[in-house]
Formats: sequence, structure tokens, C-alpha cells
Amino acid sequence: MRKMAETVFVCSNCGNEFGKWSGQCSACGEWNSIKEISKSQFPIPNKNRKNILQKAEVKNLGKLKPTPNPSLDKEGNGYIFSSKIEEFDRVLGKGIVRGSVVLFAGEPGIGKSTLLTQLMGNIGGLYVAGEESAEQINLRVKRLGLKADKFDVLETNSVEDIEQTLDRTNNLYKIAVVDSIQVMNTETGTGSAGAVNQIKESTFRLVQLAKKTGVAMFVVGHVTKEGDIAGPKLLEHMVDTVLYFEGEKNGDLRILRANKNRFGPTDEVGVFKMEEKGLREIKSEEINLIDSAKQNRIGSAITVVMEGTRPMMVEIQALVTESFAPMPTRVFSGIDNNRGRLLVAVAQKVLNMPLYKYDVYISVTGGIKIEDTGADLAVVAAMYSSYKNVPLTPKSPSATPLSPLKKGEIKSGPVFVGEVSLLGEVKKVKQMEKREKEARGMGRKMVSINSIRELKN
Ligand code: TYD
Ligand code: MG
Repeated sequence: MRKMAETVFVCSNCGNEFGKWSGQCSACGEWNSIKEISKSQFPIPNKNRKNILQKAEVKNLGKLKPTPNPSLDKEGNGYIFSSKIEEFDRVLGKGIVRGSVVLFAGEPGIGKSTLLTQLMGNIGGLYVAGEESAEQINLRVKRLGLKADKFDVLETNSVEDIEQTLDRTNNLYKIAVVDSIQVMNTETGTGSAGAVNQIKESTFRLVQLAKKTGVAMFVVGHVTKEGDIAGPKLLEHMVDTVLYFEGEKNGDLRILRANKNRFGPTDEVGVFKMEEKGLREIKSEEINLIDSAKQNRIGSAITVVMEGTRPMMVEIQALVTESFAPMPTRVFSGIDNNRGRLLVAVAQKVLNMPLYKYDVYISVTGGIKIEDTGADLAVVAAMYSSYKNVPLTPKSPSATPLSPLKKGEIKSGPVFVGEVSLLGEVKKVKQMEKREKEARGMGRKMVSINSIRELKN
């Protein structure tokens, strides 16, 4: 008798398997994440796995031998060594931890391979190329002006190949980049490359390998569209650190954020700019997305948001135009949709703007995403400016700085910082002093108002 094709249901968020479909995953609570996968994708049993795993062993910490890898200890503080990219180190904590596994996640095309190539150009190591050929990587290395001899490229999709290579080259490499986890497979995992189980098994094996060899691994994971099987979310709990590389592809600003960090903080960010010759680190003083020549324009408001512990000056632009559609358009890019809608509603009520018959477009320059509610006031101010068709000048609204200003210190327009409540009150947000300092450093003053009503003055 022929067997019927069997299927299994897998949650794309947590990877749990179920016998039947349901709208919500009972393991992680995610909605619409369960996908049906044919069991024929799972031909290989888990038989080899026990040979590969090391035997468990009880270790007394008092008797633990120092790590046998002196070449690593010369640089940095033993277990931790610098990536020689300041922004990268600060996000990781102090630097790269020996034997750790970092999941390096981001949308395709955002610059993951570029940044990791630059990292390897500094340190040297093994580049496991699953997606590109050695020639293609060489082109990138040349474009970035890096030394080709720092790169050993292993063209493979097989985790066994990586294991053998690292075994053979004992202690040769400090770091290995695996680009990307989505194209890796193992003999022990079930399913084809790209299948959830293969990705999980590959990651599991790479974590074992990193621990065994002391090589720090950077595993690239493409963030796939929502609901797609096998996004990096599946792997977060397995690795030591999860870094997200974000930004808008048509913008050139990139932000590196730690989502999980076993060895360091998660509130630091690294800022980069994608340029002709790769990613350039942006220092604090430079994080200024404002073109000072174009100040005080209609529909524009400047704010200072906190990215980790660093202030960053950004411009919010609003376009408020009369709508001829039955439902006016709302387009928010760079700010949360719900937050945007709420601010439109508050502005309509408190500032008497008839926004129900106006289309509202909001965007944030530089293509960054703002989660900081400190930008609320700037969003409202930009909408008001666009609606009224007047620029926001230093005199309007009345601007009182938090501390006295020196004569001639202020050269440019106002800065709007504050969270807007449902009643239109403007509330102070965290790290006001840092933000004010940043504003002042850029020759601007921070407006101090208690209600968005005062924007009308
Ligand atoms: P890439 O690192 O290949 O992205 P990912 O690995 O995340 O998919 O980067 C792709 C983009 O970066 C590509 O559109 C070209 C651009 N880029 C530059 O602008 N400058 C450079 O020096 C390099 C190498 C790439
Ligand atoms: Mg890539």
C-alpha cells in the first residue's frame, strides 16, 4: 500500500511542530505563524547526532585549565578581543568573546556581508561563503580596500565542512563568519537547506563547534518577511548574542542594535553610514541628520531622540494636504503607525485642525525608525507647520531654554522634544539634559512648553 503524503505543521516563530493547523501557536502564542510542511522534506533520521555531540563531562571550576590559545590572549583581555570597529565593540559590550556565537540579523541587502567583511579585514579569519563564491567575496574585499590575505574563504553549505575545517586548522582562526544560516545544512538535521529543522540543527551544531574550538562565530541570518519560515527569531535562544542591523535600504544610515546579549548591554547602538567604500562608523558628534542649510522649512521640525545612550538629532517632516478621498490617507514612515494616528487625533482635538479631511504624511529623515516618544512633540509641530503653511521659527513658539543661554549661542531653529499625552500635554522624557546639550551643541535651543496648545502662539 502506498503511504499518503504526510504533512507536519511548524510555527515560523518558535519552530514548534504540531499535528494539525491552528490559528495561534499554542507554544509561543503567535498568530498566523503555523505553516504546513510536507514530511517528505524530512527524509534523514537523527541517527548521526549522538556521534557528533561530545560526551558530557562534569568539570570542577577549581580544576579548570586556562584556555589553550595564547595567541588570542595577547590582544584584548584574554577572552575578549576587539573587533577594531569601535561601534561594533560598544554594541557587543567590550568586544568579541572567544567561542561565542553572534547571530547577525537583518533584511537582505542591508549590509550584513559588508560589515562582517570589514570586521574580517581587521582581524582575519574564516569566511564561510554559502551564498557567494570566493571570487564574489574577493570583489567586495577589493571594493572595500581590504587586504585579501586576511580572508580564508570556505565555499560550502555544509556544517560538516565547517567542523572539519576548524578541526584541521586548530587554533588558526579567531573568528568565523557563516554567511548565511539560511543556506546551511547538516547531515543530522532533517529536511532540505532552508527548512526550519535544518536551520535549527545547523545553528545548534555551530554553537557546539564554537564552544569546542573557541572560535567566535558570526552567523548571518536574513530577516524574512513576517510569517516566513526560519527567520532569526527561531534561533535567538540558541545563540549568545543577537545583533540586528537596521536601516532603510534607500537611506544610507545603518543602526546596529543588540537584541540579546549574554556578555554585554542591550541598550547600546552602533551607527554606520553605507558609502561607496563600505560602512563608515559615525561618531556621536556626527550623528546629525540635519542639513543645517535647510532650516526652518514648512512642515519640518527638529527633535533629539535617544539611540541607546546617545542623543541623535533628526528631522521630522510632515505633509498635511486637503483630502479628496472618502477616507483621508495616513502614511507614517519611521514612526509607529498607532503612535502616528494617536498624535493626529490629539492634534485635531487640541489644536482644532480639521485633520479628518486632510491627508497626513509623516517621515523621518535618514530612514531611521523612532521608538522614542520624545519625538511626539516634533511630529505634532511638523503637522501644525504644514497645516498652517508657516515655518517654525525660533520665535514661534515661545522658546525658553532649560538653562540660560550665552549670547550668540543660538544660530539655528528650535528643537522639539517631549511626549504628548492624550490631552495634549507635553511631558518631559528621559535624558532631557543630554538632549538639550546635543541641541545646544548644534546651535539650537530646545523649546519648553507644557501643552501643544502653545504651538499656536
Ligand atoms: P550586503 O552587505 O551584500 O547586504 P546583505 O549581506 O545584508 O544582504 O550589502 C548590499 C548593499 O550594500 C548593496 O546594495 C550595495 C551596497 N554597498 C555599498 O553601498 N558600498 C559598499 O562598499 C558595498 C560593499 C556594498
Ligand atoms: Mg549578504
